[in-house]
Amino acid sequence: MTLIMHTLHVELGERTYPVYIGRDLLADNELLARHIAGSQVVLVSNETVAPLYAERVRSALGKRQLITEIVLPDGEQYKSLETLSVIFDRVMADKHSRNTTFIALGGGVVGDITGFAAACYQRGVNFIQIPTTLLAQVDSSVGGKTAVNHPQGKNMIGAFYQPQAVLIDINTLQTLPAREFSAGLAEVVKYGLISDEPFYRWLHEHTPRLLAREEAALAEAIERSCANKAQVVAADEREGGMRAILNLGHTFGHAIETGQGYGEWLHGEAVAAGMMLALELSARRGWIDEAEVDDFRALLQDMHLPVSPPGNMDAAMFLSLMAHDKKVIDGNLRLILLEAIGAACIVDDVTDAELQELLAAR
Ligand code: NAD
Ligand code: GLY
Repeated sequence: MTLIMHTLHVELGERTYPVYIGRDLLADNELLARHIAGSQVVLVSNETVAPLYAERVRSALGKRQLITEIVLPDGEQYKSLETLSVIFDRVMADKHSRNTTFIALGGGVVGDITGFAAACYQRGVNFIQIPTTLLAQVDSSVGGKTAVNHPQGKNMIGAFYQPQAVLIDINTLQTLPAREFSAGLAEVVKYGLISDEPFYRWLHEHTPRLLAREEAALAEAIERSCANKAQVVAADEREGGMRAILNLGHTFGHAIETGQGYGEWLHGEAVAAGMMLALELSARRGWIDEAEVDDFRALLQDMHLPVSPPGNMDAAMFLSLMAHDKKVIDGNLRLILLEAIGAACIVDDVTDAELQELLAAR
């Protein structure tokens, strides 16, 4: 039976939208109907998620004038302009009008590409996110970042485009592979570190229940993560400033993902090792205690996440990969560090020597 356990809002004036968290929400016809403007729907999923969950969404959609179902191949490599074209070809062939609604059913890959397709089709149509991975439920489905990859760079072609609603059905997490679940936990713990110390302490107590995928613990962790993210997005939708704190560990993490070749390390795994480095650097600057660094390491281990970068990456390799970020932000490498647990800051004065010492010390 469907049950909404939490509702929160991403406050963006007239574009404010709800995030519903609960049980069996993808089969909630009333909830879907509330956010579908017309009688046309484009349901985008992938070949892994569609067989598990598309039928329930289909039944909840009931009898509408036009429903186009698009099942993409599974994988980050399909988050591309070519796949976008496939979506547009189907939508055009079926003659969807401007009041159609695009629904993304899947993880962050499906969500990002469907959101970007919705942003572009006829200059923007209704869009609903139904995220089915933990990472998508606590991060990518909330906040309006949509994109596809370019062969020369991840997420390089995209738009800020907010959904009309996010439906988080925690039951879908029961089928998620353990490694993907742990990778999602990295983004959960990130919120505690950057802006919510009580949540960080709560996670220490509740990790076993989360790993056992207990409903109440999952609903609470997702609600607290989304509430933290919603607050940051409401304050800085287009990342002019403080939204960057959501990238704690990500500069190191991207270097790991690129250095290992995409797909070797999951994004959340690389972010976990990257956050570890960010905490170590914060401790070297005297901002947090070594005991906090040890405590964080133990938490990541409990979550079955890596606590250090891959052994085949030395300081020189990190520095050269991170120099790519440097170009993006006008010559200054910008890192997110912690002034305290629950208080992130944006720092642009980290020297190469400081990084070399940090990375050599592992
Ligand atoms: P993903 O979408 O590739 O999903 C991971 C795997 O889990 C896939 O094989 C998928 O088919 C499978 N899966 C999804 N739901 C499942 C379920 N309920 N049961 C069983 N299998 C399931 O990866 P992800 O980690 O969800 O998302 C990563 C993507 O998100 C990246 O492209 C990243 O760039 C993007 N991202 C975007 C934002 C944003 O703000 N827009 C934030 C973080 C990450
Ligand atoms: N995932 C980072 C952001 O949404 O800004």
